[in-house]
Amino acid sequence: MAKEHKRPDGRGLTELRPMTAKVGVIPNADGSAMFAFGNTVAIAAVYGPRQLHPQHMQDPASGVLRVNYDLLSFSVYDRKKPGPSRRSQEISKVTEWALSPVIDLAAFPSTVIDVQIYIIQADAGTRTAGINAASMALAHAGIPMRDLICSVAVGKQDKALVVDLTKEEEDFEEGEGATDFAVAKVANSDEFTLLQLDGKIQPEIVKEVTRIGAEACKKIYEVQKKALKEVIEK
Ligand code: CDP
Repeated sequence: MAKEHKRPDGRGLTELRPMTAKVGVIPNADGSAMFAFGNTVAIAAVYGPRQLHPQHMQDPASGVLRVNYDLLSFSVYDRKKPGPSRRSQEISKVTEWALSPVIDLAAFPSTVIDVQIYIIQADAGTRTAGINAASMALAHAGIPMRDLICSVAVGKQDKALVVDLTKEEEDFEEGEGATDFAVAKVANSDEFTLLQLDGKIQPEIVKEVTRIGAEACKKIYEVQKKALKEVIEK
């Protein structure tokens, strides 16, 4: 059954959209990067570590990672109302949780590392593209990290599992409909830092979702590494 599923753009079930990555796209930031899955384009800029204000929010034992995700008004077909929303707050939070485990925040007590993520064009998978861009931007800023974080959405279309869904695929309604499972993992370990399910999935399939996600993450890691090397070699 799964093998019969045809994707609207003709991709294989576990084939990612073409990926583009570039490091150092915002000269005034301490670190920056762009990451795209097809028509989904994310830009991330890192500022800091710098002293956290107001002072009562400082943690003398650790730095704080503060992410601000923003889907820009004209990034989507139906213009999005500018400014923060419940959705942007949620994505900012899960992005902080996805990235924090690899960052040595204890090395920067009482400080904040600000990560601004802008989605300049959206065709689903924006939180995952944002995490990929932010991970590269943090490395570019010279923040001590034990590894990169790679992220992708695994989806279920009726009964078929597919990787890196487009908006059209997220809106799929046939059979069991569409489920979207965003995963993020530490590139060179089996540790997952984000598993976020939107929809319904049978518990016995979750293991297969993480396996497919981990395979896709290997390809994402290669793209991230190549973009970082290009800047280091310069
Ligand atoms: O982007 P991601 O898949 O991580 O999160 P989502 O909340 O599931 O959003 C899926 C997609 O819906 C986005 O990538 C956009 O393409 C679209 N969207 C939109 O058109 N207008 C919005 N206000 C929010 C999302």
